[in-house]
Amino acid sequence: MTIDVKRGNELGEEYRTAIAEVYIDGFGEHLEYFSKDRRKLVAAFEHMLVLDLFHVALVDGRPAAIAACTDGVQLSTRHDVRVLRRHLGLLKGTVADVGFRREFKKPWAQAEPGTASIEFVATGSAHRGRGVATALLQHMLAFPQFSTYVLEDIADTNAPALHLYEKLGFRESKRTKVRHTKRTGINAYISMRLSQA
Ligand SMILES: CC(C)(COP(=O)(O)OP(=O)(O)OC[C@H]1O[C@@H](n2cnc3c(N)ncnc32)[C@H](O)[C@@H]1OP(=O)(O)O)[C@@H](O)C(=O)NCCC(=O)NCCS
Repeated sequence: MTIDVKRGNELGEEYRTAIAEVYIDGFGEHLEYFSKDRRKLVAAFEHMLVLDLFHVALVDGRPAAIAACTDGVQLSTRHDVRVLRRHLGLLKGTVADVGFRREFKKPWAQAEPGTASIEFVATGSAHRGRGVATALLQHMLAFPQFSTYVLEDIADTNAPALHLYEKLGFRESKRTKVRHTKRTGINAYISMRLSQA
């Protein structure tokens, strides 16, 4: 298996849907309120991925894993409420707009030169457990402009993600208790940090 890593904008717009399919494989379960139809979710949300900030691991030439890397000032998603409403209807499109503004539309509080924020790490379900996310993140950890990498809001129940990040050298830097444990099973969100001396 050969894994090749490219930036989303290097691959170009014709890869947007395939990249969004990996995104929905990774995060679709949190978006079920909007639709249970995966194709509908891809259609509604693909426009918002800022391709220049997404890095894509290709297996046999097709997107298998994705992750965004930002300086904490640039935002890795940019949504358009009109597109959301066109695909999801007025109510759900508006709910998505409000939710995404709250969650994603804020620059990261601790942005500092040399520090990267890694976001939206996901491997397509057909490719999991084969080292694809490891290869993608290793590629990103070698970016010359960054020496510190931060990952925020990892659910404490997400064992695959926590294992992956720990294996790469990330360590917990913050733990924030949540109030929705009964509904989601999540007890806390964990932030992790890796500083390369
Ligand atoms: C987390 C995720 C990106 C891992 O991707 P992946 O390509 O399967 O990861 P890798 O194959 O590179 O595995 C790396 C490590 O993760 C761990 N891992 C992978 N799958 C696991 C599983 N099901 N259970 C426990 N640990 C697991 C292993 O420790 C593995 O290390 P190993 O090589 O020593 O066995 C993938 O499970 C995913 O897309 N999950 C849904 C989206 C998500 O939760 N993203 C993270 C948000 S913070």
